[in-house]
Amino acid sequence: MPYLTWDSKTPPQPVSAALRLDTIVYPQGNGYPDAEPENQIILGDNLAIMSALLPDYEGKIDLIYADPPFYTNRRYPVRVGRDEDSRRPKEWQLADGYADHWENIEAYLDMLFPRLQLMYRLLAPQGTLYLHLDWHADHYARLLLDEIFGPDRLLNEIIWVYHGPSPIRSAFNRKHDTILAYTKSPTYTFNVDAVRVPYNPKTIKTFASSPKAGFGKVPDLERGKVPEDWWYFPVVARLHNERTGYPTQKPQALLERIILASSNPGDLVADFFCGSGTTSLVASQLDRRFIANDLSWRAVHTARARHIAGSTHPFNIKYESSLKLKRISGHRNDFQLNDNMLIIHPNLLVDLDYWEIDPDWDGQVFCSVSQAIRPRKKGPIPGELTLPNSIGTRNIAVRLVKIDGEQTQFIYTG
Ligand SMILES: C[S@@+](CC[C@H](N)C(=O)[O-])C[C@H]1O[C@@H](n2cnc3c(N)ncnc32)[C@H](O)[C@@H]1O
Repeated sequence: MPYLTWDSKTPPQPVSAALRLDTIVYPQGNGYPDAEPENQIILGDNLAIMSALLPDYEGKIDLIYADPPFYTNRRYPVRVGRDEDSRRPKEWQLADGYADHWENIEAYLDMLFPRLQLMYRLLAPQGTLYLHLDWHADHYARLLLDEIFGPDRLLNEIIWVYHGPSPIRSAFNRKHDTILAYTKSPTYTFNVDAVRVPYNPKTIKTFASSPKAGFGKVPDLERGKVPEDWWYFPVVARLHNERTGYPTQKPQALLERIILASSNPGDLVADFFCGSGTTSLVASQLDRRFIANDLSWRAVHTARARHIAGSTHPFNIKYESSLKLKRISGHRNDFQLNDNMLIIHPNLLVDLDYWEIDPDWDGQVFCSVSQAIRPRKKGPIPGELTLPNSIGTRNIAVRLVKIDGEQTQFIYTG
């Protein structure tokens, strides 16, 4: 079998991260205080994070979707704040997103190869990896996956096609991505009936009008057909409700098909390049457990907000403990407590993106029971949050995140 080789192919063994549990999020109080979620969103470099997960999760993850940087040699800023939907770029507020810059293809493969090897180890025996790339590097990745999984384990080479504007005038518009799906073993989860799609009306008409169509074999037209290995889903565009402003966000419909096909309710689904959290959100909505990981704080923040708005399942937020997360803390009296409502001073709301409350702060792990998120399109961020009926005896702590990413934490002092 041919292998892909390059000078720096065998990198040193990855060093595991020490993970610190920072927050348990109970979306709108759901599950508080007893639920001990296994779901997790983790901030840190996935090489160190995946290594840290090996002792507990080797051979335990049922489905991994990976959507790494594509080797485009571009920077992808995040569009934040209200005007990010405007057609006028001057009105956009931008924040750091992620970089897809490499010295050369070897450097890119040095990033990708050990991470794919770790994903293979984490996958359960019946598990599947979906690796999402495009023309820049998918040909290299396929050889790497053949090497790691074996060429016989290629389940599908899926082509995702879409439309969109493009400045290209000297070639055909590049409007497809490639998703390489590999199974860990010949026995794998594939729920064909969960992903069937309706037959084309023309096909249905043909069978209705001609008994000889299909050489006498009439498919179960009502049950629908197995989708082809090329999929059309629109990209997440400006006006779509699911749009977060995080760059290269993938459509929920795409992840829904992958998750329905290759996992079952209760299974563990992971995405170690999670970006805005599309995979984990859809997994959670479909009652799968999830691990979502990204290097960028903005990605973790976006994924957290999406989960709170779109799913009721509680989750942990963990940090690679070597990361120095800047959070200003202290005491403040810009809040007012009315019965079980905490009301924030309107001046603080102006540039606020997110705020949350722990009604019984233990000084270690923030138990977020009530959260407010700035709506992406219209309307103000809520200025009051409800506390649970019975709150503990410790302090009420409040965390705020501004649009520009500044994070603060206060103890409520009345
Ligand atoms: C193409 S985006 C993922 C988009 C995501 N699928 C979504 O729907 O929003 C790639 C992501 O990989 C993250 N990333 C790049 N290198 C990483 C690393 N070494 N560890 C963890 N995340 C990484 C980037 O921060 C970026 O958010």
